[in-house]
Amino acid sequence: MAFPENFINELTERNDIVEVVSSYVRLSKKSGSNLFGLCPFHSEKTPSFSVSPDKQIYHCFGCGKGGGVINFIMEIENLSFPEAVEFLAKRAGLPLPEETNDRESRRRARMLELNRAAARFFYEQLSTPAGQAACDYMRKRQLSPSTARSFGIGFAPDTWSSLTEAMKAKGFTEKELAEAGLVRRGKSGGVYDTFRNRLMFPVIDVRGNVIGFSGRILGDGEPKYMNSPETLVFNKSRNLFALNLAKKSKCGYIILSEGNIDVASLHQAGFNSAVASLGTSLTPEQARLISRYTDQVIIAYDNDGAGIKAAQRAIGILEKLDLKVKVLRLEGAKDPDEFIKLKGPEAFRKLLEGSEDQIDYRLRAVTEKYDLSSDEDKVAFLKEATDLVARLPGAVERQVYAMRVASMAGVPENVVAEEAQRRRKRLLSSARKSQEREQSRVDRPPGGQRSLRYSDPASAAAEEGLIRLLYLEPALAKEPSLPPPELFSQENLGHIYRCILEKLRRGDSVSTATLGQDLSGEEMSLLVSLLQKPELLSRSRQSMLDYISKIKERREESSQSSDLRALANKYREKKGYEG
Ligand code: CTP
Ligand code: MN
Repeated sequence: MAFPENFINELTERNDIVEVVSSYVRLSKKSGSNLFGLCPFHSEKTPSFSVSPDKQIYHCFGCGKGGGVINFIMEIENLSFPEAVEFLAKRAGLPLPEETNDRESRRRARMLELNRAAARFFYEQLSTPAGQAACDYMRKRQLSPSTARSFGIGFAPDTWSSLTEAMKAKGFTEKELAEAGLVRRGKSGGVYDTFRNRLMFPVIDVRGNVIGFSGRILGDGEPKYMNSPETLVFNKSRNLFALNLAKKSKCGYIILSEGNIDVASLHQAGFNSAVASLGTSLTPEQARLISRYTDQVIIAYDNDGAGIKAAQRAIGILEKLDLKVKVLRLEGAKDPDEFIKLKGPEAFRKLLEGSEDQIDYRLRAVTEKYDLSSDEDKVAFLKEATDLVARLPGAVERQVYAMRVASMAGVPENVVAEEAQRRRKRLLSSARKSQEREQSRVDRPPGGQRSLRYSDPASAAAEEGLIRLLYLEPALAKEPSLPPPELFSQENLGHIYRCILEKLRRGDSVSTATLGQDLSGEEMSLLVSLLQKPELLSRSRQSMLDYISKIKERREESSQSSDLRALANKYREKKGYEG
């Protein structure tokens, strides 16, 4: 572990989870010793987010997220584990331990320094003969030198080692270059530049660090973009291209587009709040990052099938965070860049001001699926469109859109309005029922329900029990008959078990904090939720032995039945049956 255990323990002691969570979520006492509030990680109307002051953990019965105070900060502030530790250390006025401070953050600082030097190198190439090709390409795409400067756009020459040589001359090692993703290792062990013959966009985080690069091919060809791999300082799904510039915009909204060229071209035309994700579809982390700077997002994705699909996914993610979402309709152009080139910035501004809100957009998406001159399609359209209307929160809104749907399909308005009303009643009553179910799960600790998702519920229940016991009573780790993790039927439980066991056998303590670096967010949530189930500690050793024998027994049975299956297959093959 990068941070010493006693430091992590002191950190969590000095950052009480109730206090920390309370600065993000209004918590109130409800039942037992737990506090409840509205979950900050998914949208809900009744509180299912619980915080346990005794166990110092949080758990949402709605979305399943959970963990300790460090996990909470990672989630809500969008930070990596070491960053969250730093954040909490600052909060509690706790100095970071010398050694980690030195080693870990020096490595990061050094990588950032290397990235910055590389960005400068790429930028300088623009004024060399080799960089002519990139300048020509930018000219062709009408990107001005001043845009190149403000984004730090540069060029990676069409050679195998220009960057490597230049960085070595500045004192960086091949190892450092490789860790930063700037070079790759060949079969012979030598290195070669990762980015070659590409227009280089540095990715700069909101603090102004160069954390990675996107390289675009000059012209056509595949892959169009190459991005830095995940490194100590670069995580594609937690960052957005150009957010460092967009966050300074005063316009009140963020424009979300797909390509770096679109972003650069938008900024150049005066739309200085454009950002793009880095080659993945929008992630919840990116949405959360956006929500720190604005409450409105305007989606300007490419005007094609993939763009429409991506927009619909993004709408869902953004609305969960209560962001207002609008979608641009780029008629007559393939993307924002082309739109501005063809029709000018003024036309784009009009589009922004008049851009449809997501209801219009969804309605149009439904309309485009069907041929309204065919009766069959018309029926399907009415069904889907009425459903959309039924889900609108406001009565006036429902009236207006019912009218619109009716006129599109050429049916009387009251037909749509009444059908929407009926559908709404049904939706509301089923929502109420599922809320009641949820509620009863909140009041009662979660029971066997979740284990239904396991392939072998009986074994999984015992695996959960074993984990719970070890977590609560570390001394049990001395038991020699503890099974190896491979015997677990459930891989994620096996991994949690392995991590806990390894720590205990080394004599380390286990807590959500010390496990934070080893478990994924999902595994942490799973751990916290299984810790909610009751366990009788008065007979812990006996329970443990029961769990162990259950796991072994189930494993034996399943290997027997898979032997049987194998035998049956063999038999089938012999008989010449199809497999
Ligand atoms: N993309 C990527 N990595 C990035 C940025 C974008 O892989 N850092 C991918 C996106 O996922 C999307 C596509 O590239 O699929 C976006 O392309 P496009 O908008 O066509 O890019 P532009 O640079 O705007 O290129 P063009 O000039 O051809 O529009
Ligand atoms: Mn584009």
